[in-house]
Amino acid sequence: MENFAAIVLAAGKGTRMKSDTPKVLHRVCGRPMLYYPLRVLSSLGAKKVVTVVGHGADEVKSALGKDKAAGMPVTDFHLQKPQLGTGHAVGEGLKKLKGFKGDVLILSGDVPLITKETISALVKMHRRKSPRPALSLVSIILDDPFGYGRIIRDDSGGVTSIVEHKDLEALKRSINEVNAGIYVASADFLRSAIRRLKTDNKQGEYYLTDLVSIAVKRGEQVAALTHLEPGEVMGVNNRVELAAVNSRMRRKILSRLMLSGVTVLDPEATYVDSGVKVGKDAVIYPGVHLEGETVIGARCIIEEGVKVADSVVASGSHIKSGSVLEAARVGKGVVVGPYARLRPGTELKDNSHIGNFVEVKNSVIGRGSKANHLSYIGDSTIGSRVNIGAGTITCNYDGVRKWRTTIADGVFIGSDTQLVAPVKVGKGAYVGSGPTITKDVPPGSLALTRVEQKIIRGWAKKKMKGKK
Ligand code: UD1
Ligand code: CA
Repeated sequence: MENFAAIVLAAGKGTRMKSDTPKVLHRVCGRPMLYYPLRVLSSLGAKKVVTVVGHGADEVKSALGKDKAAGMPVTDFHLQKPQLGTGHAVGEGLKKLKGFKGDVLILSGDVPLITKETISALVKMHRRKSPRPALSLVSIILDDPFGYGRIIRDDSGGVTSIVEHKDLEALKRSINEVNAGIYVASADFLRSAIRRLKTDNKQGEYYLTDLVSIAVKRGEQVAALTHLEPGEVMGVNNRVELAAVNSRMRRKILSRLMLSGVTVLDPEATYVDSGVKVGKDAVIYPGVHLEGETVIGARCIIEEGVKVADSVVASGSHIKSGSVLEAARVGKGVVVGPYARLRPGTELKDNSHIGNFVEVKNSVIGRGSKANHLSYIGDSTIGSRVNIGAGTITCNYDGVRKWRTTIADGVFIGSDTQLVAPVKVGKGAYVGSGPTITKDVPPGSLALTRVEQKIIRGWAKKKMKGKK
């Protein structure tokens, strides 16, 4: 789309959220709500986007800044203080668009389901009409229009004004065509008309919606694009609506995945954040949460109750029930779980196995290596084809510092081993079961720390006699 700028309104208090967090930072599928309108605007090629902030301005700015690495769209911020209504907010936002001559889109930061298609349809309609309307907006027909501004039309169907719910006479409350809060107008019209706004209404605010009657009084047209899918322009004003919007967004994300070749066994019980990528023929069981910047490769199986956050799982890997992965990298053909925990800095190379009740942190596990039962592997580098026996613990922390454990290729670590770091086990070495390894083990050797087993015959019988 050519030559347009945008103002996104995000300064309001969001009183009905009953929250210490600014409304536009409440999350929808893992991202602050405000992310979504900004992403749509950037994908349409907005020349400049101004986000009007007020309540929690610093928090909003820094939260969006933080997400920049994750592809957060670029926006300027303008502080609106005090917040005197949506009309005042746009007037403030325009200060950052000095000299701009084209069309200005106005969106709300609390309408995250809005699509590119709807916005470009609105702009197309606005630009094609002759004479060109002073202002065009999106309207929707709702079964329950409670709370929304109503579109008032004259006998010939022309839009003449918008009346806010609180200012509406009882008789007109049944009007069910409402204002979606999405507008386009030329910067010049906005600059001249916003100056005419007054606060003579129930809320004592400068209503952006009064631009409609201002235009009509000047003999200009206002056009409404009536949208057929009300869900898309659903605003978030409280947490019931937040849940409803989350569930729609989630459904959208899952449908996109399913249409791209991912099997989702139960879309009602699967949670995938907006930035997540999943490859073809992957299968996702119920109760799975894929969060943040996660990438799941083709043909992976992600079983029930698995949480994967900010991690990469390469193709053909199998993450079994109840496992938790955070900032981990998993190679191809790897098996994890059930009930394994991969903490940040874990890297599992191709075809390795991490089994039940195994925790791995800040460690590399080489190709084809296995730690299948009840172990803790922290701050370790483990080569390929290593077998880590059940119950092995790397003792990486001496109460002051953390130390590394290094295990070379082809090593066999017997069950119930403690490796007191810093310690190295050389290539092809064996460590017998149950030891406390405090010294390096040379390549090819066997390390044992057990005392030899003693047998005292008849001991048990004697003990029982003593008891009588
Ligand atoms: C607004 C519209 C209403 C429409 C509805 C659609 C007005 C007067 N009313 O009502 O016709 O049906 O949206 O969702 O515009 N904001 C600021 N600064 C302010 C006040 C608000 O930035 O001083 C921002 C809010 O953060 C929010 C947006 O503007 O993102 C809309 O404000 P809100 O109070 O939610 O308006 P509604 O009552 O929903
Ligand atoms: Ca609203």
